[in-house]
Amino acid sequence: MSDRFRIAARSHGPSVAAAARSLEDDVWGHLGFLNATDAHHRHYDRILETFADLQLCLIDDETDELVALANCAPLKWNGAALPSTGWDWLVEEGARDRDVPHNTLGALAISVPPRHRGTGHAQRMIGELKRLCERHGFTSLIAPVRPSRKFQHQSVCMRDYVGWTDESGRCYDPWLRSHLQQGARVQGVCERSMVVVQPVAFWETWAGRRFDRSGTFCVEGGLVPVLIDLERDVGIYEEPNVWVRYDCGGHSALN
Ligand SMILES: CC(C)(COP(=O)(O)OP(=O)(O)OC[C@H]1O[C@@H](n2cnc3c(N)ncnc32)[C@H](O)[C@@H]1OP(=O)(O)O)[C@@H](O)C(=O)NCCC(=O)NCCS
Repeated sequence: MSDRFRIAARSHGPSVAAAARSLEDDVWGHLGFLNATDAHHRHYDRILETFADLQLCLIDDETDELVALANCAPLKWNGAALPSTGWDWLVEEGARDRDVPHNTLGALAISVPPRHRGTGHAQRMIGELKRLCERHGFTSLIAPVRPSRKFQHQSVCMRDYVGWTDESGRCYDPWLRSHLQQGARVQGVCERSMVVVQPVAFWETWAGRRFDRSGTFCVEGGLVPVLIDLERDVGIYEEPNVWVRYDCGGHSALN
């Protein structure tokens, strides 16, 4: 890739922060139900502000357009098995006291608008996160990855999906494949990575339909179906993600 693209942190200035917010709306707007996890609701925006210097924006110098974004949170991690609560756990950890010594970077999202996908920006952002880890002396980069084609196979168990390969024997999912190409090691599925518990009306809005019986229903963009319980007036969405880990060779040895 030519050097017409440069990295700027969200802390660079109000125009970069505003462009980052607008890119997030563009990429994640149709998945807005994910903003309703408890951890997201309570901590996400504050993490982006507190650690604005760690939020990376890729800018096209020719057009001045923001073409990719990598959001993350630093944390202290002792290398123990990563929990099934995945993304929500990462946000809770990132929201802890900012003065604790961090040794790990947790990737919360890499976002590329549809018109800029398939160009290498996403893989570049993985590389930029690894470099960020090295600059800070962190030992690991961890990420609860949201496989990009799983939404087309909502009824398939994530553990099975992760093992799917294409005709060339490569990992079937393009986004997981990109992580593997960048050197990620899969640590396992986090079954309850993003948990959204909301009244049935909330889900009816996102599904664009009424639910007249209890059961499991697909919502566009979801990775698994939502469990609707009319009697309790609740819909529960438990999104599984895939933990991956990169070793970054930093020197922070924390226990
Ligand atoms: C996930 C996401 C960031 C991936 O972006 P992407 O650009 O589609 O990147 P992918 O890594 O999936 O695809 C890479 C493909 O781009 C192509 N590509 C990579 N580098 C390229 C380059 N320099 N030139 C042209 N094509 C290139 C490759 O063909 C690759 O496909 P391959 O594996 O078949 O070779 C993007 O789909 C997105 O923003 N999705 C919504 C938000 C989201 O879910 N984020 C992830 C949360 S963990």
